[in-house]
Order: sequence, then C-alpha cells, then structure tokens
Amino acid sequence: MTPRPPHVAIIMDGNGRWAAARGLPRTHGHREGAQAVRRVVRAARELGLPALTLYAFSAQNWQRPRPEVDHLMRLLRRFALDEAPELLARDIRLVVIGESRRLPLFARGPLAALQAASAHNRGMTLCLALSYGGREALAAAARALVGEAAAGRLRPEQVDVAAVAARLATSRLPPVDLLIRTSGEQRLSNFLLWESAYAELVFTPTLWPDFGRADLEAALEAYRCRERRFGGLAPGRDVTA
Ligand code: IPE
Ligand code: IPE
Ligand code: MG
Repeated sequence: MTPRPPHVAIIMDGNGRWAAARGLPRTHGHREGAQAVRRVVRAARELGLPALTLYAFSAQNWQRPRPEVDHLMRLLRRFALDEAPELLARDIRLVVIGESRRLPLFARGPLAALQAASAHNRGMTLCLALSYGGREALAAAARALVGEAAAGRLRPEQVDVAAVAARLATSRLPPVDLLIRTSGEQRLSNFLLWESAYAELVFTPTLWPDFGRADLEAALEAYRCRERRFGGLAPGRDVTA
C-alpha cells in the first residue's frame, strides 16, 4: 500500500543570509524568497500533496525594522494579486492562519478576496501562516474554551485533545506529517507547536531563496524512509518478546 501523500509544512528561513552573502540588502532576499514560494507551491501541487503550510511571517517578526516589515507586507499583497489566477486555475484553496487582523489592509484585502474565491477548491490547500505564533494560537484556543465554559456551553471534563484541536485555525487541515526548515537552523521558532506533535523533521542547509522542486523532493524522499510509530510499535514488531 502506498502511504497517503503528506501534509508538508515549511519554515522558510534564510532570506537575509542569502542577500548578505551577495552584498545585497535583506529585502532582495525576501524578493527571491517570494519566487521560491511560487516554485514550491507549483511543485507541491504537481506532486499531489494535499496541503502545504508555509511560515511566511511570525507573530515575533513584527519586531523587525519597519522598512523590512513594510517590504514583506508589500510582497504579500503582490503574491495574493499576482498568484490568484494560477492558484484558482490549479484548484488550490488558500487558507490564512495567524493574527491576520494585524496585517495592513492593503495586504489583508487581496488575501481575503483570494481566500473567498478559492474556498471551494479541492486540489490542494495552501495555508499561509501570517503574523502566526503557535503559542498565540494555543492561547486563543484556550480563550475560546474558557469563554464557552463561562457561558455554560462546555464542561471542563469535555476539554480533551479533540476539543482543543477543534478550536485551532488549523482544525480543518490534516496534521503536519513533514516539517522542513531551511537555512540550517534547527528550531521550531513558535511554528505549529500543536499540529507538529508527530511530524517528521527535516532540516536542510539550503537557504530559502535557493529552495526548489528538487529540494522538496529530497525532503519527501527522506520522509518516506522514516518509520513513524506514534508511540506504538512498528508493524511486524508486535510479537511479544
Ligand atoms: C525568513 O528569512 C523570512 C522571514 C522570517 C520573514 P529571514 O529574514 O529570517 O532570513 P535570515 O534568517 O535572517 O537569513
Ligand atoms: C521563523 O524564522 C519565522 C519565519 C520563517 C516566518 P525567524 O528567522 O523569524 O526565526 P528565528 O528568529 O531564527 O528563531
Ligand atoms: Mg531567519
């Protein structure tokens, strides 16, 4: 039996270092990074992935210098406007997770329009994590649960794993199977803390602007070689010793 294709999540890191290595401002790295996003979305669709989640801007990235943040927001707007025809033609549904109210309207508007226009697409889900933090997302879920409990619609004993999962923005996405981080860093940086509970992790030294279809395929190959046990025993190992 061939296993189902994985939900892949990517921490797209290394834009700044890519630019610095060329003596260019960090913004050039982000521009090239946006090109890599286009390539990888196309490859993911062609490879038949059900979902691709991209960490594009963290809740903590607001701390960066204002010109860099502004540049990233403009790239986001351009992405939503320029990629709309292709995403719709390829039957891709756009989902945004994170505190999107913090995004400037000029970026939020086109993103919301594309989300609405693509809501019924089923070919693949492209999930963009924007102003996203895993701890912030869990705090929001906790807030929702407490609110329902205070209103008398939920009893404490009903709060289980499924109840928390149902109150996350990712509730309609499959769990993350493969989590990739580029640029050699080996940390989660507040990305999908809950959803990655049993994700296979692949770290690659490639800087995000250099990442392409071959790198995605290499990560998928590494994933296929992993044995996922979820705390149980691998098939065939369940004989009593
Ligand atoms: C990732 O690249 C893009 C964002 C976090 C928005 P970085 O900007 O973090 O690049 P490095 O890590 O400084 O090289
Ligand atoms: C994580 O990368 C956020 C994104 C890729 C959007 P960072 O570059 O912000 O993370 P740290 O600072 O290295 O942990
Ligand atoms: Mg970084």
